[in-house]
Amino acid sequence: MCGIIAAASSRNVGKLLVRGLHKMEYRGYDSAGIALHQDNSIAHLRAVGKVQLLEDKMIAEKPKSKLGIAHTRWATHGEPSELNAHPHKSKDSVYIVHNGIIENYVELREELIKDGYEFSSQTDSELIAHLLDLYYKETKSMVNAMYKAKEKLDGAYAIAAINIDDNSNLVVARNKSPLLLGIGSDEILAASDPIAIAELTNDFIFLEDGDVAEISAETYKIFDNTKSKANREITHIDISTQATSKGDYRHFMEKEIYEQPEAVSKTVDGRIGGEDVLDNIFGLGSSDIFAKVERVQIVACGTSLHAGRVAANWFSSIAELPCQVDYASEYRYRNPHVDQNSLLITISQSGETADTLAALNYSKERDYLSSLTICNVPTSSLARESDFSLFTNAGPEIGVASTKAFTTQLAGLMLLALSLAKSRGLNPKLRGRIVKALRLLPETIAEALLLKDKMLEIAPNIANKNNALFLGRGIFYPIAKEGALKLKEISYIHAEAYPAGELKHGPLALIDENMPVIALAPESEIAEKLISNLEEVKARGGTLYVMADPSVNMDVKSGSLVHMPKCDFFMTPIVYNIPLQILSYEVALLRGTDIDQPRNLAKSVTVE
Ligand code: G6P
Repeated sequence: MCGIIAAASSRNVGKLLVRGLHKMEYRGYDSAGIALHQDNSIAHLRAVGKVQLLEDKMIAEKPKSKLGIAHTRWATHGEPSELNAHPHKSKDSVYIVHNGIIENYVELREELIKDGYEFSSQTDSELIAHLLDLYYKETKSMVNAMYKAKEKLDGAYAIAAINIDDNSNLVVARNKSPLLLGIGSDEILAASDPIAIAELTNDFIFLEDGDVAEISAETYKIFDNTKSKANREITHIDISTQATSKGDYRHFMEKEIYEQPEAVSKTVDGRIGGEDVLDNIFGLGSSDIFAKVERVQIVACGTSLHAGRVAANWFSSIAELPCQVDYASEYRYRNPHVDQNSLLITISQSGETADTLAALNYSKERDYLSSLTICNVPTSSLARESDFSLFTNAGPEIGVASTKAFTTQLAGLMLLALSLAKSRGLNPKLRGRIVKALRLLPETIAEALLLKDKMLEIAPNIANKNNALFLGRGIFYPIAKEGALKLKEISYIHAEAYPAGELKHGPLALIDENMPVIALAPESEIAEKLISNLEEVKARGGTLYVMADPSVNMDVKSGSLVHMPKCDFFMTPIVYNIPLQILSYEVALLRGTDIDQPRNLAKSVTVE
């Protein structure tokens, strides 16, 4: 949610700040802005819409500056408009960019109005500029002003600020929103995501909650929550430009779909050996802790939650453990009962989702045996704050709709099911069978990607409808939910998922020739029952698109029966999801939507 970037350099920073915003556009894209220090004044440009519109203004005005801050926005308080776009300023002297939410903004705003400050936006962020101005006047130091402002601010924030009185230093602060420094040559940068500055440096410092840093082109000083000087480690990360560019693909989402065989190999490689999963792949001591686990609690959001729902089934059937799955945003509010020896698992692509982080923090006050995260970003807050972790190694996922992150999360969760079973001394033969299937998984996914032509045939029949129904049973119900989520996210077609047996309890009333039904029919004891459910759809004129095991045969009349590649039953949820991703992508393409940046959404949701 929102991306911020700041730079102090010995060269002009306008272009590199805008380039950084382009890289972080997945975080929010309803407006963008920049403030550039020009010695006696500050150039302030903002535009409603995508970063390109800000760039057009920059090209027209060509402001020069060696110190600046910039922002791409996902609106929380106040509609997308130029006045609500960041940077916000106070009396032409202090300019700020902010990612996060200030929870006590109403009372602070009132206090500042009493102090004579005027507000020009509806945002919760503008008051930060006024607070800094107020305290800068008092302390004559932006670092001290930031500490005084921090005492007032409740909520989550990553802030970068500049002041007209200082053309070489900028100040940043972090609390519960991601923020890092990049150490370049003759320049120091700050950003919400390393991707934004990866072309400029490979050396990053991940700030901690409570940190304030002062940055100039030559040096940086970091202070911790108690205002003491802090030494934070420099982390070297090589993010290739290939990983963050589309290459020959039309969209990041398309690239990420077709990267899945390789991505899954990277999740599994080095974590299995012979006929079993290796010990301690979730961190030193994890295998011993797993031996004590008696119950599992999963919390996650969006696509990651769907991965959790599939995994709950695996934990039960492979590791013989009861597992509960909750929306991270709901978990804290149901006063969960925590049984002895429960393991808390968070699943997250970004590792920064505010609700998931809040659930993890809440769990720390409860009696959990341990916490573990399945996450794609090793430097993220979830990774740092969990006892154990497994990184999915999917590489940067830029398309807002999650694809390769989901597939690799499932592979990671299968490794977890195997590890729990191993530590509990259970099902060695089954473990051997699954390890073999995991080795073949990249190949099977590559085969499933070849179903593109079939999806191209189906796509026009979905693209011209306003609704779609996805059906699955058992472990395929969460896959049906993920299929429906993907379709609605990027094509804006209303899509719902049901366990097929529930059809007759309501949704059957919706079936007519305008309601395409997409069903998942793997070979299993449930396939037969599902096929009877599909007959009910056919009898009412609904059009069926069925992804099925090669052994399944049925007359789908004007719809399609798509035979899936053969694979071990435990891999089928992962494999059946692939054509659903392609179908959503092709439907969205036909409808001409903004596939990588669908309206109203953002990839990294750092507000609760
Ligand atoms: C947003 C994204 C989804 C993602 C969800 C959870 O809604 O658009 O694609 O599944 O957040 O994100 P996480 O990073 O925690 O997996």
